[in-house]
Amino acid sequence: MSFTSQTLTGSKPEQYAQLAAQARALLSGESDRIANAANLSALVYHALPDLNWAGFYFHDGTELVVGPFQGLPACVRIALDKGVCGAAARTRQTQRVEDVEAFPGHIACDSASRSELVVPLVKNDRLIGVLDLDSPRLARFDEEDQRGLEEVAAIYVETLA
Ligand code: SME
Repeated sequence: MSFTSQTLTGSKPEQYAQLAAQARALLSGESDRIANAANLSALVYHALPDLNWAGFYFHDGTELVVGPFQGLPACVRIALDKGVCGAAARTRQTQRVEDVEAFPGHIACDSASRSELVVPLVKNDRLIGVLDLDSPRLARFDEEDQRGLEEVAAIYVETLA
């Protein structure tokens, strides 16, 4: 398989539609959750500007354990009552945090992070984990980013057996 990522163009919703199409092409025909998470992390990290971390945490039945990602080495285990990732996993609601320093219990894996978007991954009512994006820019993620990345997360979940 060869995959060439195209530069995203147009309005933000148009760019996210292109990113979703790239994600579908990249994951097409594969259901291995590690392989797909690795490729999706790389796609997202290189496609979107102003990110310093993009990747996955998986729920091991008790807590979140780091999976494939791009960025600096990260905390390995996160309890569900800790951090932005824990909040997304516990509530099964996307967490969009404009200023991580104002989020009680935020876990600073990379001190450069200023804002964060965490999308829960749920399949058939079962918590799989979360997709986590960090930015060195305050309020990097708006509602359009949230919708776009929820779509990318849904594409990932659909590939899982
Ligand atoms: N900041 C996250 C921890 C994960 S790292 O940023 C990669 C949190 O508070 O859950």
